Amino acid sequence: MKKYLAAFLFCTFYSVLVAQVCYNDSPCMNGGECIQYSPADNYTCNCTGTGYEGVNCTELIVTPTPTSAFSVISTPLVCTPPCNSGSLRLVNGSRSNEGRVEVCQNGTWGTVCDDSWDNTDAGVVCRQLGLGTSGTAYIRAHFGEGNGSIVLDDVACDGTEQFLVNCRHNSSHNCGHYEDAGVTCPACIDGSIRLAGGFNSLEGLVEICSGGAWGTVCDDRWDSTDAGVVCRQLGYASGTSIGRAYFGQGNGSIVMDNVDCTGSESHLSNCTHITDHNCCHSEDAGVRCARAVANCSMETIASSDRGTFEWPETMSDRTANIPCPNGPSGAIANRTCTNNGTWESPDIESCATTSVANGFRNI
Ligand SMILES: *[C@@H]1O[C@H](CO)[C@@H](O)[C@H](O)[C@H]1NC(C)=O
Ligand SMILES: *[C@@H]1O[C@H](CO)[C@@H](O)[C@H](O)[C@H]1NC(C)=O
Ligand SMILES: *[C@@H]1O[C@H](CO)[C@@H](O)[C@H](O)[C@H]1NC(C)=O
Ligand SMILES: *[C@@H]1O[C@H](CO)[C@@H](O)[C@H](O)[C@H]1NC(C)=O
Ligand SMILES: *[C@@H]1O[C@H](CO)[C@@H](O)[C@H](O)[C@H]1NC(C)=O
Ligand SMILES: *[C@@H]1O[C@H](CO)[C@@H](O)[C@H](O)[C@H]1NC(C)=O
Ligand SMILES: *[C@@H]1O[C@H](CO)[C@@H](O)[C@H](O)[C@H]1NC(C)=O
Ligand SMILES: *[C@@H]1O[C@H](CO)[C@@H](O)[C@H](O)[C@H]1NC(C)=O
Ligand SMILES: *[C@@H]1O[C@H](CO)[C@@H](O)[C@H](O)[C@H]1NC(C)=O
Ligand SMILES: *[C@@H]1O[C@H](CO)[C@@H](O)[C@H](O)[C@H]1NC(C)=O
Ligand SMILES: *[C@@H]1O[C@H](CO)[C@@H](O)[C@H](O)[C@H]1NC(C)=O
Ligand SMILES: *[C@@H]1O[C@H](CO)[C@@H](O)[C@H](O)[C@H]1NC(C)=O
Repeated sequence: MKKYLAAFLFCTFYSVLVAQVCYNDSPCMNGGECIQYSPADNYTCNCTGTGYEGVNCTELIVTPTPTSAFSVISTPLVCTPPCNSGSLRLVNGSRSNEGRVEVCQNGTWGTVCDDSWDNTDAGVVCRQLGLGTSGTAYIRAHFGEGNGSIVLDDVACDGTEQFLVNCRHNSSHNCGHYEDAGVTCPACIDGSIRLAGGFNSLEGLVEICSGGAWGTVCDDRWDSTDAGVVCRQLGYASGTSIGRAYFGQGNGSIVMDNVDCTGSESHLSNCTHITDHNCCHSEDAGVRCARAVANCSMETIASSDRGTFEWPETMSDRTANIPCPNGPSGAIANRTCTNNGTWESPDIESCATTSVANGFRNI
């Protein structure tokens, strides 16, 4: 207010000097300083320090870093994301994918007025937060009233904007916090998969994201080919199928039935299936995955006292004793074949003890 008054006085003063009619109201928004020239519509706004730019200081300077632009908080507050101009957070939702929309401006968090707030605007919020591409708009402080400034009003995104503050909007508002805007973003990205209820990360109830929510798969025709697709989608090598809600029952919809993968699909959602199911959650499908286990290659080893050896005898050996590289005659080291098919380095200390074990043959 002070700045507006100062700008007004400045402009008035200047207009007296140059005998021009000055603006009744400074055209410079957000506290920008008006510098009036002649004629009357010749002016510049000094936006320095306002956090805004543009002819009339109306364009918020967006300086989000990738992490801040994707920061999300939920209730209870787990962490406070950095407040960089233009970054967003969702506050007071029951999950991290929903809440009152708060926008960082000039180092503090403000809210968005719900005038003309719609799903297109909500979609831009979700995309900016990395939470999918669509969103559901909420009005009338559905997620409670904020207490900061109301920084955006009349938001009218066309849906292509990367940041909410890039959407057409009005920086001055006629709102109260009872009109704070909120969103619900998809809980997950369609086609993604997670395992629930297992004893470790390799097993569990198969949950697949469909329509932005987690659902389950019916175990009709569920077999290890299907389980293999699930496990490979999750980065494992293979899997076995387990049905009858062995790992517990899901809560969401049953989104796939009669799944019939060929085994070459990259995603479970790519497998032949029907969505019109006749199942109940007691038939929820599960998997038990296995990590890739590669065999270590046979090596030919030159040893001073034994000559050349081919080692070990069988490719499937996961541990084997080998002649110590620099050990005394007959000394051996115990090496292990890791799951990625490389031999773990010999335990050099065991090279001190000498007992020639099986697993060698002269060639
Ligand atoms: C700046 O404000 C003036 C006066 O309100 C307006 O006529 C003009 O269109 C505005 N310019 C921009 C770029 O917003
Ligand atoms: C506006 O005022 C500046 C400073 O006096 C002057 O250089 C410029 O030519 C003026 N522009 C117009 C369009 O009158
Ligand atoms: C703009 O405002 C800043 C801060 O008030 C001031 O330091 C600067 O000199 C001003 N620039 C002009 C061109 O008036
Ligand atoms: C931005 O914050 C600074 C310091 O917190 C304050 O002096 C300034 O008036 C604020 N500007 C706006 C436009 O809110
Ligand atoms: C959170 O939202 C509920 C309504 O869902 C509201 O009653 C409560 O005051 C809100 N709390 C905060 C801190 O915004
Ligand atoms: C605004 O609300 C937050 C929690 O939602 C609280 O930490 C903060 O102190 C409140 N600020 C004011 C000025 O009431
Ligand atoms: C911006 O909002 C103010 C206050 O509600 C209103 O007077 C003005 O007409 C609005 N401007 C635009 C461009 O919608
Ligand atoms: C497989 O499913 C994923 C995730 O749903 C999808 O992105 C991809 O386009 C599908 N590929 C084919 C060939 O249908
Ligand atoms: C289903 O919901 C219950 C209660 O909300 C929860 O304890 C359980 O973990 C959920 N199951 C799954 C698979 O998400
Ligand atoms: C490893 O060797 C065993 C025994 O020779 C064989 O059955 C298995 O298929 C091999 N695994 C790989 C990944 O080549
Ligand atoms: C090698 O060491 C492992 C454990 O360190 C042991 O289980 C294995 O029996 C040893 N193998 C040989 C051939 O000595
Ligand atoms: C193979 O696994 C071992 C131990 O797990 C690891 O040290 C090594 O870097 C891995 N090698 C490759 C090529 O991934």
